[in-house]
Amino acid sequence: MANILVEQADFVRVIKVNRPDKLNALNIETLKEFLKVAQSAKEDRNTRAVVLTGAGDKAFIAGADIEEMNKMTPTEAKEFSDLGNNLVSTVENMGKVSIACINGYALGGGCELSLGCTFRFLSEKAVLGQPEVKLGIMPGFGGSQRLVRFLGKPKALELCITGRNIDAEEALILGLGNRVYSKEDLFPKTLEFAKEISQLAPIAVRYIIEAINRGSECTLREALDFESHLFSLCFATEDMRIGTTAFLKKQKPNFTGK
Ligand code: CAA
Repeated sequence: MANILVEQADFVRVIKVNRPDKLNALNIETLKEFLKVAQSAKEDRNTRAVVLTGAGDKAFIAGADIEEMNKMTPTEAKEFSDLGNNLVSTVENMGKVSIACINGYALGGGCELSLGCTFRFLSEKAVLGQPEVKLGIMPGFGGSQRLVRFLGKPKALELCITGRNIDAEEALILGLGNRVYSKEDLFPKTLEFAKEISQLAPIAVRYIIEAINRGSECTLREALDFESHLFSLCFATEDMRIGTTAFLKKQKPNFTGK
């Protein structure tokens, strides 16, 4: 692939956008490659956690490619937005943990992609924001809609309308960031966390992600019912017997993923 690098470390897949000279901006080619890689990670039983990051030491992803957007017609812009939304939703619904390892700028489409991830780990130098308004456009890969769900209406309106960037400390306070590390520690700590997560029972992890993703979109009554169904399905797994038996025998569980 021209713009995406993929590495596998045990049960963890690392996906890196590799356009450092353009601060990893997402052009159509990169979005299509990324989507393929995300779909393959979703289907791969040997991948239990995915780390998303950007090449170079300046940016995670500095947004959608402005040079490409500059020439787009409304129809092309709609296709572009659908492609970006498809990528973010695929990551969000991979059924496995995804961690955005934000090593610098995560702006526009980059911030939006991180919002589809299960977790966001930030370097002290991370900068997040939805600056689209400054280009005469608005978020187009789900930013306005996920931010309102993450932060509530007042903060989502503020960030999207002012287009102001926030630093790692503010992102942590707002709850957008899960952890902040020094620049040097960010990647190794993220990988360590991903490896720990990949030792957990993958079906239980998948059901938790599904319960929270889908449950947050319906009424409490429907969501509780959905949770109850997924809870009972856990009892059909080998891992449920392994986990509960290990507890009773005071041993460490060795989950099989079945
Ligand atoms: N698209 C295309 N190219 C980009 C880019 C982007 N989003 N962001 C950076 N680049 C390119 C620059 O044009 C520059 O290329 P050249 O060397 O060929 O000129 C290169 O990356 C390095 O960037 P800068 O020289 O600008 O680096 P800097 O350190 O001075 O500034 C920055 C860094 C503040 C992040 C600045 O690059 C910037 O503001 N980038 C744009 C951020 C942005 O507006 N993102 C939102 C895009 S719109 C969007 O994402 C829509 C959506 O929701 C779908």
